[in-house]
Amino acid sequence: MTAPAPPTRHAALLAWVDEVIDLCRPAAVHWCDGSAPEYDFLCQGLVESGTFRRLDETRHPGSFLALSDPSDVARVEERTFICSKRPQDAGRTNHWQDPEQMKATLRGLFDGCMAGRTLYVIPFSMGPLGSPRSIIGVELTDSAYVVVNMRIMARIGAAVLEELGDAGAFVPCLHSVGAPRQVGVPDVPWPCNPNKYIVHFPEERAIWSFGSGYGGNALLGKKCLALRIASVMGRDEGWMAEHMLILGLESPQGEKLYFAAAFPSACGKTNLSMIIPPPGYEGWKATVVGDDIAWMWPGPDGRLRAINPESGYFGVAPGTSLLSNPNAMAALSRNTIFTNVAATDDGGVWWEGMTESPPASLTDWRGQPWTPASATPAAHPNSRFTAPARQCPSIDPHWDDPAGVPISAIIFGGRRPTTMPLVYQAFNWVHGVYVGATMGSETTAAAAGAVGRVRRDPMAMLPFCGYNMGHYFRHWIEMRRLLTHLPRIFHVNWFRKSASGTFLWPGFGQNMRVLEWIFHRCQGRIAGHEQNIGWVPHYEDFNSDGLEGFTRDSFDAVMAFNPDEWREELISQGELYLNLYDNLPKELIFQRELLAGRL
Ligand code: OXD
Ligand code: MN
Repeated sequence: MTAPAPPTRHAALLAWVDEVIDLCRPAAVHWCDGSAPEYDFLCQGLVESGTFRRLDETRHPGSFLALSDPSDVARVEERTFICSKRPQDAGRTNHWQDPEQMKATLRGLFDGCMAGRTLYVIPFSMGPLGSPRSIIGVELTDSAYVVVNMRIMARIGAAVLEELGDAGAFVPCLHSVGAPRQVGVPDVPWPCNPNKYIVHFPEERAIWSFGSGYGGNALLGKKCLALRIASVMGRDEGWMAEHMLILGLESPQGEKLYFAAAFPSACGKTNLSMIIPPPGYEGWKATVVGDDIAWMWPGPDGRLRAINPESGYFGVAPGTSLLSNPNAMAALSRNTIFTNVAATDDGGVWWEGMTESPPASLTDWRGQPWTPASATPAAHPNSRFTAPARQCPSIDPHWDDPAGVPISAIIFGGRRPTTMPLVYQAFNWVHGVYVGATMGSETTAAAAGAVGRVRRDPMAMLPFCGYNMGHYFRHWIEMRRLLTHLPRIFHVNWFRKSASGTFLWPGFGQNMRVLEWIFHRCQGRIAGHEQNIGWVPHYEDFNSDGLEGFTRDSFDAVMAFNPDEWREELISQGELYLNLYDNLPKELIFQRELLAGRL
């Protein structure tokens, strides 16, 4: 095995790396310095091994396309485990196994699993280097694809090792694609293993991931550390790790507020985080701090402060276009890694929704010739771009600020064709926790499984909470005590449909109108109308100037309160409540009763 001298004297890190070498038996070890030459070298290697195709340098400078194995295209929730010592600490919404038993299984799988491959050591920081809120992790992986994606999504390399020093704390993250090489047998472009395990040990703060190269399963800083492990750390330490975007809004008068918003996967979070104020909003500015994850803690002034722990966007490509999200298109215009999108004949990329009509011929995400007559999509519905955050034209000046930004509003939402109005505001914090806890959405392609049914996804954290969901709600309620200025809580729904199935709200940039109402509510400037379900806008206070064809009737339709639908809603919340019954905070039981009473 080739192994240069490690660039650290951190005894615990060195001992762990040695232990993993003994277990996984890689052919070589590479300590990542995070430099540009290293990135270029690894990308070139991925081109040579057939994992990457270099895109046309003038159209997509510094960018690559990877096509995964068709079986390895999404997060695998069925194979995701929270191995706390006691099953009740993982709760019924997580898969659990005894940690010692799980370790034994994993040791068997990892035994010799890196044969013929290089073990990369990636020191990484989730959060700006030097922020008291940041967490350092070290990912050991046998995938160069993981290294180059991690370099976009997190701060990695020498600077992180320096910050870690000789004895700093880090979260050990072990990853293997689970495909040992045999001498003389050529490698495949996307090695992986049908047997997958995405495992979290919350008490030990450790992650083991086996068998997948897909982002959410393999870039362990993201969902595994920044949500599942960090949510446990937040519970223990009095802060919150949430599946939320963070955006800034500045009024023409120069007042600036920040909002955090939770939506289940693939509900347009990236679009909302990069919203461009539409015509009529001259003088308003919208900026992005983050598009997926927020870490929030009580600041010295008693307000909730937030950082985005990531430094890149791992966004869903289909549907992203110059119309839907010009900022994302600019962010991904260079230095971007595309995964499972289609390739054009001239070295470009394409996905459904990128242009109004598709090119006449493409190579699809499976590497097969594709024409508009083909029966299957050209890009996988969960195809992704990995793009550096700083390339987004609307990046907030404080996106990298170690002190974070103050949060004035928390917004929950989902894809709900019925029931949920365009916007309403919770009466108070505990009611807001109830609104977030009972959030639901139609399922999408971000996770493997059925698409199109409604599933309850509390705070969009169901697949990402590293502990018992009932205890998580308790933690949310308790946060109230740690804050003197509580953010206001809202619920939005861009996806309500008429009886004939057409969307009642134009969405995209026009969502700015809803954000404006939220902005003024946070400033205490406008009265709301007290409805059974919360505060809703008076028609007169909702800015629909210049919104063509949007009449008072349209407003009434998208805001309609339908008692029958809400009765259904209450009944279907019962399913979630039954699932969490043993640990559901009483406050949430009362909130549901209160709503039932009001109905
Ligand atoms: C994501 C997800 O990839 O939520 O962000 O699935
Ligand atoms: Mn997400």
